[in-house]
Amino acid sequence: MNKIDVIILAAGKGTRMNSSLPKVLHKLAGRTLLHHVISAVNCVSDCRIIVITGYKAEAVEKLHAQNNCIFVRQSEQLGTAHAVKMALPHIRDLSDVLILYGDVPLVSTCTIRKMIGAVKEGQIGLLTVEKDNPFGYGRIVSNEQGCIESIVEHNDATSDQLKITEVNTGVMAMNVSQLKKWIPKIKDDNRNNEYYLTDIIEIARLNSCAIRRIQPNSVIEVEGVNNREQLSRLERSYQKRLAYEFMVSGNSLADPSRFDQRGKLKTGIDNYIDVNCIFEGEVQLGNNITIGPNCYITNSIIDDYAEIKANSYVESSKIKSGATVGPFARLRPGTLIGKGSKVGNFVEIKKTTLGNRSKVNHLTYLGNATIGSDANIGAGTITCNYDGSKKHETTIGENVFVGSNTTLVAPITLSNDSFVAAGSTVTNSVSEGQLAVGRAKQRNVTGWKPPAK
Ligand code: UD1
Ligand code: CA
Repeated sequence: MNKIDVIILAAGKGTRMNSSLPKVLHKLAGRTLLHHVISAVNCVSDCRIIVITGYKAEAVEKLHAQNNCIFVRQSEQLGTAHAVKMALPHIRDLSDVLILYGDVPLVSTCTIRKMIGAVKEGQIGLLTVEKDNPFGYGRIVSNEQGCIESIVEHNDATSDQLKITEVNTGVMAMNVSQLKKWIPKIKDDNRNNEYYLTDIIEIARLNSCAIRRIQPNSVIEVEGVNNREQLSRLERSYQKRLAYEFMVSGNSLADPSRFDQRGKLKTGIDNYIDVNCIFEGEVQLGNNITIGPNCYITNSIIDDYAEIKANSYVESSKIKSGATVGPFARLRPGTLIGKGSKVGNFVEIKKTTLGNRSKVNHLTYLGNATIGSDANIGAGTITCNYDGSKKHETTIGENVFVGSNTTLVAPITLSNDSFVAAGSTVTNSVSEGQLAVGRAKQRNVTGWKPPAK
């Protein structure tokens, strides 16, 4: 069986994006357009992926360096056929070649398999789709029997051809000897003076090669991104699909049109997500979790029955079962919230472990701290973890009570069952069972008169 080599065209600037960023680096659901295309091909075993770069090639190559691709530069963007020509020296002999466009990001693995299937049977596979509004796309010209004869680009089409609603998606597959034979025959005698890959279809027909029309399961697969409006529409339809998958898996969304998943979301069942929540990177949810409106959650693990209330920000953290976080809480990287613990409003926590059933209910900063179970951290507590050059640790034992408005100057330890009086600045460690009072003694001045008004 022939090997598969994949060419992904990604050299264009994307003029219609009006951006300093190359088009393929714009993001869809948190990942670059090019990244989506590359992941779609991961289903093909032993394939070689050749990515044609050009405009800001270094940036494109650097961002996808981990993706096991061969990058080939097209220094001048003379058209899609010219781009494919750049890849030819890197195609293995006896390969079948699949051509994808870097700006058509959601092509599915199922479609890719069908394309490859066509080539295995000696035909050229061409992915086409019916579009109500075919504006801008290349039109598929067929004969009376419905067989594909050629593709005519929008700018070069006659008024009759412009009425054709079957369009070219850009995805094509053929065998390497055909490709090598026909690419050099393509000319740039069109409105844009570009070498159009699409002209290869007519050349194939002149050489009596059959074209197999393949159609995607869903039109979203073949939407091209040429401007920001198309990108935003594709983002919405993709998010709708992800929301649908989330609900089908046994979870509820207050409003599927206000759900954003930008990465992998692993989930159990019976979770409820209110409106405007964003999940980024790798997020893992257990079961029966409630997440309130406007929460941002990235690279975190949340266990069963946890509750995250409105407007909370959770980054690279772990929230154990039954814990409550928010509203308006911020968990920064390296935070672990123990079982049944409570983190309330305007609390910021970083690189800190909070034991089971402990409470940090209001207006507090905890950084570089380890806190035991059943502790109570009063409103306005600050761990002073930074001395201007280094970070220092705060250790708080089990069942410790820290009164409101306390500053804990790290490094410091509050042992089990210790107690800190409200308003203290604590600079010395406190032993088990001790009460620390670190504040100026109160004086009451009798007969004091306020300044005259
Ligand atoms: C192309 C197709 C059109 C199809 C549409 C589907 C051609 C000539 N036309 O048009 O039939 O309906 O896609 O989305 O192929 N690129 C390079 N080097 C170049 C030129 C382009 O790498 O010299 C890359 C671009 O970066 C882009 C892709 O090829 O990723 C397609 O180019 P683009 O200019 O967007 O083609 P369309 O006008 O959309
Ligand atoms: Ca395009």
